[in-house]
Amino acid sequence: MSEQRSILITGGAGFIGSHVVRLFVNKYPNYRIINFDALTYAGNLENLSDIEDAENYYFEKGNILDPEELETVFSKYGINAVIHLAAESHVDRSILSPLDFVYTNVIGTVNLLNAAKQHWQDVAGKRFYHISTDEVYGSLGEEGYFTESTAYDPNSPYSASKASSDHFVRAYGETYHLPVIVTNCSNNYGPNHFPEKLIPLFINNIIEGKPLPVYGDGRYTRDWLYVKDHARAIDMVFHKGKDFETYNIGGFNEWQNIELVKLLCKLMDQKLGKPPGTSEQLITYVKDRPGHDRRYAIDATKIKDELGWQPSVTFEEGLAETIDWYLENTEWLKHVTSGAYQQYYQTQYHKEG
Ligand code: NAD
Ligand code: TYD
Repeated sequence: MSEQRSILITGGAGFIGSHVVRLFVNKYPNYRIINFDALTYAGNLENLSDIEDAENYYFEKGNILDPEELETVFSKYGINAVIHLAAESHVDRSILSPLDFVYTNVIGTVNLLNAAKQHWQDVAGKRFYHISTDEVYGSLGEEGYFTESTAYDPNSPYSASKASSDHFVRAYGETYHLPVIVTNCSNNYGPNHFPEKLIPLFINNIIEGKPLPVYGDGRYTRDWLYVKDHARAIDMVFHKGKDFETYNIGGFNEWQNIELVKLLCKLMDQKLGKPPGTSEQLITYVKDRPGHDRRYAIDATKIKDELGWQPSVTFEEGLAETIDWYLENTEWLKHVTSGAYQQYYQTQYHKEG
C-alpha cells in the first residue's frame, strides 16, 4: 500500500488498548497511530507515558458518541484503518447501568462505522477492525468450546451490547461492503488492568488486606489470556486477517475462579514474604452476580491454523509478571482507586452475602 497508514485506535488509553497502541507505535514507526479516547474512569494516559513522545503517536481526546468529533479526526489524519476498542467493559457496571453500555458500545460503534463509511468511498486498503468478547456466545456447560460458528446468546447487558455492536459491524460489511473484521477474545489479564475486574481487584485487595469477594460458589470458569498475547493477536489479525471474517482468540487456559484465587493468594504470599495461607484468609463468599455465566472457553484453532497465532506465555509467567507490575506501580493503583472508585465499591457486589 503506497498511502501511509493512519490508524485510529479507539479506547487506546484503556487496559487492552494501551498495550495495542504501544505495540503498534514501537513496531511500526511508519504508521501514524492516533489514540482516540474519552478518558472515562477506565482510561488513563499514565498507561502510555513511555511512548507519549514518539513521533508516530498522536492522542485525541474525544467521544465515539459525538459524530462531529469523529468526523474531525477522520479528516484531520486521513484515517484509513480503525482498531476499535473503546467500550464500557465491566459486567457488574452493566448490571447497574445498562443504558451506558447501549450508548457507548452500540451507538458509539455505529457512529464509528458511519464515519468510516462516509470517508472510505474507495475501500481498497481500508480496514475496520472491531474488538469483541467471547461473552457474546453466552454460557457453556461443563463440556465444549465456543467456535466462530457458535450462535450468539448473550446474558448480561454488557454482552448484549457487545453482541449488538458485532452485528452492526457485520451488517455494515454485508450492506455497504465496508471491509470489516471482528475478533472475539476471552478474559484478559495483565498490567494496566483496572482494579474492578477479578484479578487486579484481588491483587489490590490483598495489598490492602481487604476481603476478596468471591461471587456465588466460586465454581465459575473463565479462559484467561495475557494481555500482551492478545495485543500480538490483534497485530496479526490486523495485518493478515481476511475481510468479513471473525476469529476467536483464547488462552487455552481455563480456571475455576476459586482455584485461580487460591493460586493468586499463594503467589502474593510469596511475593510479599508472608507465611503461606495468609492471603487465603481474606477469601469471602458473597452474593452471586445475577445472570452469572457459568463457563467460557474458546476454541482458538482457526487463528492458530490460519494465522499462526498462539499464546506465548504460561499463566504462571503472566500472573507473576502481572503481580510484579502492580507491586511496582502502587502510585498508578492509588490514582485509579481514588474518588468515584470508592463510591462504586459501596455497591451491592462487595458486601458479604
Ligand atoms: P477498558 O474499560 O479498560 O478501556 C476502555 C477504554 O475506552 C477506556 O480508555 C475508556 O476511556 C474508553 N472509552 C469508553 N467510552 C468511550 C467513548 N464513549 N468514547 C471514547 N472512548 C471511550 O476496556 P478493555 O478491558 O481494555 O477492553 C477493550 C475492548 O476489548 C472492549 O471493546 C472490550 O469489550 C473488549 N474485550 C475486553 C476483554 C477483557 O478481558 N478486558 C476481553 C475481550 C474483549
Ligand atoms: P470479571 O473479571 O468481572 O470478568 P467477566 O465477568 O467479564 O468474566 O469476572 C471474572 C470472574 O470472576 C466472573 O466469574 C465473576 C468473578 N468475580 C468474583 O467472583 N468476584 C469479583 O469481585 C469479581 C469482580 C468477579
